[in-house]
Amino acid sequence: MSAKRVKIGLIGLGTVGSGVYRTLKAFEHIEIAKIAVRDKNKPRNIPDLDQSILTENPLEVVNNPEIEIVIELIGGIEPAFGLIQTAVENGKHIVTANKELLAKHGEELFNIAEKHNRVILYEAAIAGGIPIIMPIKTILTGNNITKIEAILNGTTNYILTKMDLQGLSYEEALKEAQELGYAEADPASDVEGFDAAYKITTLATLAFKERVKLDKVYREGITKINAQDMKIANELGYKIKLTASAYFDENNNADVRVHPMLIPKQNTLAHIDYVTNAVSLTGHPIGEITLSGPGAGAFPTASSVTGDVLAIAAEIGTTDYLLPQMRCRHRKTANVINILDTENRYYLLIEAANVKGVTGKIGAICAENNISLKSFIQKDISENNTAAIVIITEKAVERDMLNAISEFKKDESIINVNNLIRVQLY
Ligand code: NAP
Ligand code: HSE
Repeated sequence: MSAKRVKIGLIGLGTVGSGVYRTLKAFEHIEIAKIAVRDKNKPRNIPDLDQSILTENPLEVVNNPEIEIVIELIGGIEPAFGLIQTAVENGKHIVTANKELLAKHGEELFNIAEKHNRVILYEAAIAGGIPIIMPIKTILTGNNITKIEAILNGTTNYILTKMDLQGLSYEEALKEAQELGYAEADPASDVEGFDAAYKITTLATLAFKERVKLDKVYREGITKINAQDMKIANELGYKIKLTASAYFDENNNADVRVHPMLIPKQNTLAHIDYVTNAVSLTGHPIGEITLSGPGAGAFPTASSVTGDVLAIAAEIGTTDYLLPQMRCRHRKTANVINILDTENRYYLLIEAANVKGVTGKIGAICAENNISLKSFIQKDISENNTAAIVIITEKAVERDMLNAISEFKKDESIINVNNLIRVQLY
């Protein structure tokens, strides 16, 4: 039996859209009927592109009565939200890679979709080519997932790896990531951790089966990480990665955050380099699993979009209620705790005057704030007679750590308190 022919509308033909166009062309039962772009005359590196199906009016896609699946690949909130809403109201199923939209308006969109008995699939929105949404919603659904530790942004992982392994400057590495099509239209979304925060918001919601609100997710980017931190981290046996994590405790409190983290070199995430992403999940009964693969770029992302399109196309005309397991069922809001109340280990680089008693003062301030030191390393004395001191703490409460830092800053023999970076717990 040959597969039912399904007409698709594409909104966006940029990095991801062009990868999707070229990938879907291989499937005879999928017909790309209309493509909306911002500028029809823009040169595009797609040799077999049928110019006659291009439009600068996305309403021609979402209002086209023949189109059954709309793929949204323009990004951002508007007009993406309005276009998806109209498409759903017009009876179309949706595939999107728009993590920002899902993190900010997912609940509204899924409610609209359910009201109209349509599905919204978004495998490409999180970790690019890694299959993670469908596995969590299907084969892993019997698990009680309590921990996610992940690298969810390809651009920042690429930048950190290039700085670390090849000595590139931050600016050079970011430029390369942009040229390779990994970065967002505004790369601040990548380097300031917003993109990873959008992704962990949705991932944690799925894994914990309770809705995590984006504004409760702690976020820090990589812009303060410098070559000195990387060098010291390497010497001490760590790699610095931008991680997205979510922990769920026995009292149903969620701790969801994005920040740079020192990862011991023997741990899996330390070896996830360049554009590769990885998601480590811990749950019962599965234990721990890690999925890794390309986290950005035209074709890896197209793989996920194509998988979603084919999943929907396979069911159109066979049932009145498509893909029940892929629908959104989150009705409870997760209680997300404040980062100040969390316990972490910390790396801190202190620049201090080379005077007697300074190390004792640092130790005393830590002790007064309930912080035990795992290691205390005095680096070289510089020409201006200052000492670089690196401390790594045992588990301490974030609020106590910040209090200790403000005490350090008040001390006249402490010149500078540099980057505070959290260290992966054992
Ligand atoms: P992109 O290269 O900037 O492409 C955006 C496309 O949308 C362009 O074709 C643009 O048209 C079109 N567009 C923008 N506004 C439009 C409008 N109002 N009406 C019609 N078309 C419009 O972006 P991208 O990297 O492909 O990313 C697309 C989405 O996928 C975003 O949500 C992004 O976060 C997500 N994503 C990206 C990646 C990645 O590796 N790049 C991976 C996963 C998810 P023109 O071509 O005429 O300018
Ligand atoms: N800008 C994103 C990244 C694209 O670098 O991971 C993939 O979502």
